[in-house]
Amino acid sequence: MASEHRIETPQHQMWGGRFALGPSEALHALNRSLPVDHRLWPQDVAASKAWVHALGRVGVLTPAEEAALLEGLDRVAERLADGAAVGAPDEDIHTLVERLLYEEVGSTAGKLHTGRSRNDQVATDLRLWTLGATDQLDVDLTQLGSTLVARARDGMDDLLPGYTHGQRAQPVRWAYVLLAHAWPLVRDRQRLADARRRTAELPLGSGALAGSGFPVDRVLLKEALGFRALSPNALDVTGDRDFVAEVLFALALVGTHLSRLAAELQTYTSAEFGFVKLSDAFSTGSSLMPQKRNPDVLELARAKSARLLGDLVALLATLKGIPAGYSKDLQEDKALLFDAFDTVALVLPAVTGAVASLTVDRDRMRGALDASLRATDLADLLVEAGVPFRESHGFVGRLVLEAERAGVPLDRVPPAAAAAIHPALGAAVAQLGTWEDSIEGRATPGGSARHSVEQQLEELRKAFTLGGAG
Ligand code: ARG
Repeated sequence: MASEHRIETPQHQMWGGRFALGPSEALHALNRSLPVDHRLWPQDVAASKAWVHALGRVGVLTPAEEAALLEGLDRVAERLADGAAVGAPDEDIHTLVERLLYEEVGSTAGKLHTGRSRNDQVATDLRLWTLGATDQLDVDLTQLGSTLVARARDGMDDLLPGYTHGQRAQPVRWAYVLLAHAWPLVRDRQRLADARRRTAELPLGSGALAGSGFPVDRVLLKEALGFRALSPNALDVTGDRDFVAEVLFALALVGTHLSRLAAELQTYTSAEFGFVKLSDAFSTGSSLMPQKRNPDVLELARAKSARLLGDLVALLATLKGIPAGYSKDLQEDKALLFDAFDTVALVLPAVTGAVASLTVDRDRMRGALDASLRATDLADLLVEAGVPFRESHGFVGRLVLEAERAGVPLDRVPPAAAAAIHPALGAAVAQLGTWEDSIEGRATPGGSARHSVEQQLEELRKAFTLGGAG
């Protein structure tokens, strides 16, 4: 039976004295996290070096031991950078680092874990990792944001129908549509910056749950590792993965935003719309149909957002049943967090490239503007002639019906037929002006009129300057 199989005593283990026999193979396989958490090695080494300093200051280590451990940890880092974690048998990254340290400096390595637990250690490592990953994500988000802004700048005079319910609604500028997908990214960056503040609270010095048994200087640890504040409660912080949940939510929402952008572009790439065409570099072909130009990049962006949502839900479900403090359930956080960051890091540059290189068919866009999109303008013109809007809406509705019956565009209904609906309607139709006039007629801040779009371009240019998330 598998449960009878016991693993050979591992080369190095952080526990085990109290057991007569080693763990079963099945437990070892389940319990091991090295295949996932090996990525934390740079953070584990950095936090260990800070811990060595802290132990030196309280006299747990002599200056010579302190120097030996610091040098040893540097050599461990070099070995890990060279791939020492690949195929390593250890339980987790903390065990691996300690084993390698033993190999480098001998029994002095056994002093490193004084007053520290893997509970405060892993919480520290993961927060450090998250801070770095968040900063990289911010760069990637900024790149997509700037790309949307740049493409919007070119699209000021490309006019197309704006859609609600998937139906042509009112004319807008292509620039305006692109900016509607850029603003969510500003909020994403703000959300990440906000989560970052809470992530930057230092757990180290919390011990397993009740504080460290040695009077280490946590303020100094905080400074050394670049944290913003000390965590206020050891039991809380060793079991706190709110920062993971917050960041996973922020990433799930980033994914949702990318998915919506992708869904919209995917529609516009169809021959029926033909508004945009993806570049060869961001298109895929069909194995059977030679003519196909497939927008896989957009479809994958849409699908990957589902997985980000899954990561968030899986974490929340993991957290909701456990008491304060560390439970091994928490080991599962890393696979979810890494998966989410990896997914976004894969999707964002691809979407950015697709947006940067797509071509716009402004004639197709303009060709989709049909006179029915002027219905609101007509109703507004009747309002100017003194008709209450609810009534003018009804009159123009009748004009639409008349146009459909006669099989003519809304602005080609014979003047006599228009006048029969309302005396001012014939004049209103004659007054309609250009598509540009129609768009400029909605000049409220935040609208699609040129001035507002120019203002948005300027605000977004600033917002997508790095450091401008504020
Ligand atoms: N590998 C563990 C994790 O990722 C490290 C912490 C283990 N703590 C413990 N008490 N066994 O959560």
